[in-house]
Amino acid sequence: MMMALSLNACSSSGEGSIKRESWGKTPDGASVSLYTLRNAGGMEVKITNYGAIVVSMVVPDKEGKFADVVLGYDSLADYVRNNPYFGVIAGRYANRIRKGTFRLNGIEYHLAVNNGANHLHGGLKGFDKVVWNAGEEKSPDGPSLKLAYLSKNGEEGYPGDLSVSVTYTLTDKNELKISYAATTNKPTVVNLTSHSYFNLAGAGKGNILDHVLSINAGKFTPVDTSLIPTGELRSVAGTPMDFRNPTAIGARINENESQLKAGRGYDHNWVLNRRGKGLELAARVVELTSGRVMEVWTTEPGLQFYSGNFLDGSNLGKGGNVYNFRDGFCLETQHFPDSPNKPEFPSVVLNPGEIYSTETQYRFSTE
Ligand code: GLA
Repeated sequence: MMMALSLNACSSSGEGSIKRESWGKTPDGASVSLYTLRNAGGMEVKITNYGAIVVSMVVPDKEGKFADVVLGYDSLADYVRNNPYFGVIAGRYANRIRKGTFRLNGIEYHLAVNNGANHLHGGLKGFDKVVWNAGEEKSPDGPSLKLAYLSKNGEEGYPGDLSVSVTYTLTDKNELKISYAATTNKPTVVNLTSHSYFNLAGAGKGNILDHVLSINAGKFTPVDTSLIPTGELRSVAGTPMDFRNPTAIGARINENESQLKAGRGYDHNWVLNRRGKGLELAARVVELTSGRVMEVWTTEPGLQFYSGNFLDGSNLGKGGNVYNFRDGFCLETQHFPDSPNKPEFPSVVLNPGEIYSTETQYRFSTE
């Protein structure tokens, strides 16, 4: 059951707690809140209902010292002004749709085009730029915040009223669970993801090239120069995309290889090795100086690994930190890019009467 939180309310769930504070207004005058979820071990996650954005994730290192491991801003105004998707929920369709066009049941739809000739992350005003309704959820697993949004028929060009919710739960095992749900009243396409930029040494502590990454995938979806998949599922064997064994992100990133050139680094979708439909391990990242480890578990078929290639020092982030080229990486669980135009890819169609339901967990530990 959803419960509205009163102003600056503080309540506890298990050993953890959730606290709300006012976080100002959007230019349209909508009030925005900032929620702090805290677990028994002291891990803390701040989430705002503007864009359903994860603003901070404060996680211990191997000596028990806490640091914020996601890039972001100190104020709502900064997120409104210019956000390269730090921490957002991207939707209605995360990632790219070629030329913003697709056909569904014989009807051609034209979406907002906001990335060269293509549609990216839901368009000009995607789910990252809207105000969500927030309420505390009762969960035995830990403090939990449910964010809900109704995306109207025609918004950014998509068909159908889409009722979507995202529930963040912080467990006592230092896991951030993200559960997504959606229903529609007309056939539509849906692909939701969380777009946090991580630096496990601490946001603002330099680039992420020494982070050691494993991705549980034997194939990836090669792209053209506008980052639209060609449709091929290519083996990672013998390519810089092979993260089946733990490898530093920077080990091969500057190789003269056409896929890396197209992405200016890593900005590709991996086809996850899956056994069934449940939560399975998608990726694991280790930062050696702090000993922080992050695992990504998901029900989704794909993982976009983006190495922060568009960061250029123009974002003045939290605590006055400037984020330079490759100072953060994203591991975005999702369906494959441009799936609405690729019948051979797993379907992203949601019909009336069906429930879109996916889950992703970011699990933190140390070694
Ligand atoms: C995704 C895309 C990237 C980039 C970032 C945001 O990861 O794949 O190309 O657009 O979002 O900057």
